[in-house]
Amino acid sequence: MAQNVATTPIKLSILLLLAMFVCSHSQSEGVLPQLQKTNMTIYFQDRFAGPNTTTVPITGIPGHLWTFGSFGTVFGIDSPITQGLEGSSEQIARGQGVHVTSALDGSATYVSISIVFMNKEFNGSTLEIQVSHHLQMAQNVATTPIKLSILLLLAMFVCSHSQSEGVLPQLQKTNMTIYFQDRFAGPNTTTVPITGIPGHLWTFGSFGTVFGIDSPITQGLEGSSEQIARGQGVHVTSALDGSATYVSISIVFMNKEFNGSTLEIQGANYLYVNVRELAVVGGTGQFRYARGFATFETAFLDMKAAYAVIRCNITIEHY
Ligand SMILES: *[C@@H]1O[C@H](CO)[C@@H](O)[C@H](O)[C@H]1NC(C)=O
Ligand SMILES: *[C@@H]1O[C@H](CO)[C@@H](O)[C@H](O)[C@H]1NC(C)=O
Ligand SMILES: *[C@@H]1O[C@H](CO)[C@@H](O)[C@H](O)[C@H]1NC(C)=O
Ligand SMILES: *[C@@H]1O[C@H](CO)[C@@H](O)[C@H](O)[C@H]1NC(C)=O
Ligand SMILES: *[C@@H]1O[C@H](CO)[C@@H](O)[C@H](O)[C@H]1NC(C)=O
Ligand SMILES: *[C@@H]1O[C@H](CO)[C@@H](O)[C@H](O)[C@H]1NC(C)=O
Ligand SMILES: *[C@@H]1O[C@H](CO)[C@@H](O)[C@H](O)[C@H]1NC(C)=O
Repeated sequence: MAQNVATTPIKLSILLLLAMFVCSHSQSEGVLPQLQKTNMTIYFQDRFAGPNTTTVPITGIPGHLWTFGSFGTVFGIDSPITQGLEGSSEQIARGQGVHVTSALDGSATYVSISIVFMNKEFNGSTLEIQVSHHLQMAQNVATTPIKLSILLLLAMFVCSHSQSEGVLPQLQKTNMTIYFQDRFAGPNTTTVPITGIPGHLWTFGSFGTVFGIDSPITQGLEGSSEQIARGQGVHVTSALDGSATYVSISIVFMNKEFNGSTLEIQGANYLYVNVRELAVVGGTGQFRYARGFATFETAFLDMKAAYAVIRCNITIEHY
């Protein structure tokens, strides 16, 4: 009896504390400030040569040229970002991160950068941009416009990002099942080691190895079924024991329904786990504001042919 009496108040206080926690928790949810809309147009000042170069090739496939047009080339970027088009206009931020040429034909780079603000208004705030960036249009024109289109495309991305907030429609749910057709050797290789720890083998099992990826993605399991997208980006072996890779890729759609839209996938890919779950961290086009997850499972594997088909189920909410 005495014990019951003693413990009851303790239980009660725990309950009360929990209740208070739940209350304050929901309270703070109740006063979440309104989402703010921000539109901005900014200009990346990119220099590819000379004393003030901003975009530097770091590594690439050994024996290949390390240029934008060469699959697997990794660039470090630190570009001034200005308020106006002119290089002399006020610098408000820097664009810092990496580009990786992520299309086998050199037509696209995978961009992963932070916009780090240093103007009075946003000092210290950042925006994170991750996307597959197609150069095709720019490549048709001369050098200066290429620089401009890169600037404009990136600026447009920031703009459209904030624009769509103005007219946010209902969240949509989309589920889809797609198949990555991965080849690790032979004439149609899709997954190429770019670099790794010097003196180590550059394989999936070797920590620090960086792979460039450009895999066809099909509607069905068969390699011959309709190609609806490409998976472009990088894998880095990220577990010391070689059991996991860090995946950062864009799914770039090219079918009629989603042509030009992308989904951005990021996460830890444990190679010996049957079903791997990675995050869908964003999207563009029809998948703006995408959030969700993707499961990856090996649906077919032919070691001799160095050929694997990965089934990917995507579950997202987006506008
Ligand atoms: C490089 O940057 C410095 C300092 O901003 C500037 O004085 C110089 O003119 C620049 N050089 C070129 C070739 O742009
Ligand atoms: C931005 O913040 C840094 C460090 O906090 C400070 O040194 C700098 O003066 C600030 N710049 C502006 C424009 O406020
Ligand atoms: C953002 O830009 C779009 C079009 O460019 C415009 O319709 C919208 O009103 C702008 N929103 C704000 C908050 O300025
Ligand atoms: C989509 O997938 C989720 C999780 O796998 C499931 O709960 C949901 O019912 C599915 N929705 C549709 C429309 O198939
Ligand atoms: C490589 O791709 C080409 C064109 O799609 C195809 O004709 C050829 O059979 C493929 N080769 C292999 C070994 O898969
Ligand atoms: C997708 O868009 C590209 C460029 O806008 C175009 O060339 C291509 O025909 C389109 N594909 C489909 C299936 O609509
Ligand atoms: C993925 O979806 C397919 C059906 O489209 C289903 O057979 C499979 O079990 C799903 N995989 C996972 C991991 O949910």
